[in-house]
Amino acid sequence: MRRIGVLTSGGDAPGMNAAIRAAVRTAIYNGLEVSGIRHGYQGMIEGVYEDMTLRSVADIIQRGGTILQTARCLEFIEESGRKKGMDQLRWHGVEGLIAIGGDGTFRGALDLEKMGFPVIGIPGTIDNDIPCTSTTIGFDTVVNTVVDAINKIRDTATSHERAFVIEVMGRHSGFIALAAGLAGGAESILIPELPLVMDEVVENIKRGVARGKRHSIIILAEGVADGREFVKDLVEQTGVDTRLSVLGYIQRGGSPSAQDRVLASRMGAAAVTYLIQGKSGKMVAYEDGRLKDVDLSLALSQKKSIDMEQYELAKILSM
Ligand code: F6P
Repeated sequence: MRRIGVLTSGGDAPGMNAAIRAAVRTAIYNGLEVSGIRHGYQGMIEGVYEDMTLRSVADIIQRGGTILQTARCLEFIEESGRKKGMDQLRWHGVEGLIAIGGDGTFRGALDLEKMGFPVIGIPGTIDNDIPCTSTTIGFDTVVNTVVDAINKIRDTATSHERAFVIEVMGRHSGFIALAAGLAGGAESILIPELPLVMDEVVENIKRGVARGKRHSIIILAEGVADGREFVKDLVEQTGVDTRLSVLGYIQRGGSPSAQDRVLASRMGAAAVTYLIQGKSGKMVAYEDGRLKDVDLSLALSQKKSIDMEQYELAKILSM
């Protein structure tokens, strides 16, 4: 193998740049050349490749987003799109690929592997919804971002004796809501994996008021309910002045945390090592402090489940 390609695809996540930097520098250290592929699979098909050097990844470890940019590419779902992508990879002399992203990215990577192309996936998504790895690049940063927002909202909530519903990202998974809710001391945490029990939320708020609590923080993962409707229902049922704060895309940006930078650096380097070792169709996974390779097909066939112990703990602690 003389040249490898690197791309980022799907939703961006803080730490993707640190992973690109590690992959490029580890490859160069091992005598390989690297092509950066812009806009994920879209750029692969359209031939938007650029030579990556030591300098092209300088000064990026601290930057959020992805210097290679990203896209969600529908054309790559079709076999004809994938064939175009393969032709472009070959034309540019790329003999192995590192794909950084979430499950959509991995589905594309697995399709390439089935066509005989060596590929390694790196889990990069703020959602942390990738099975077989305890965490993904970007998750620690987003949790810190949300906790910071909770701290700020709590100040104004206390001053005005209000309840706040803070809507966080997570259409299908509640990892962000659970971790940030636990770390931020939220009264209720609502996640798509569990049924929404309105009576419990109402009861929590009323109990808090009766105990003299001067605020209530409810963390709502976006996939659970429409925030506005939810707040309207709460006000009707509790009579407590309640505001909605939708954190939105602020959660996807920002400088990656030290933990994400370390994780991304280790994963980027490991992905190159796996390609050199002749591995393919694997994802770099993190378990118990160590990296290992896991079949992409295995990761894609499962659903990562929420840590119910943490969920119950958060409930107890918010008494
Ligand atoms: O990156 C994951 C995620 O942030 C989800 O939590 C969210 O629902 C989704 O991406 C929205 O992203 P987009 O609008 O870019 O499709």
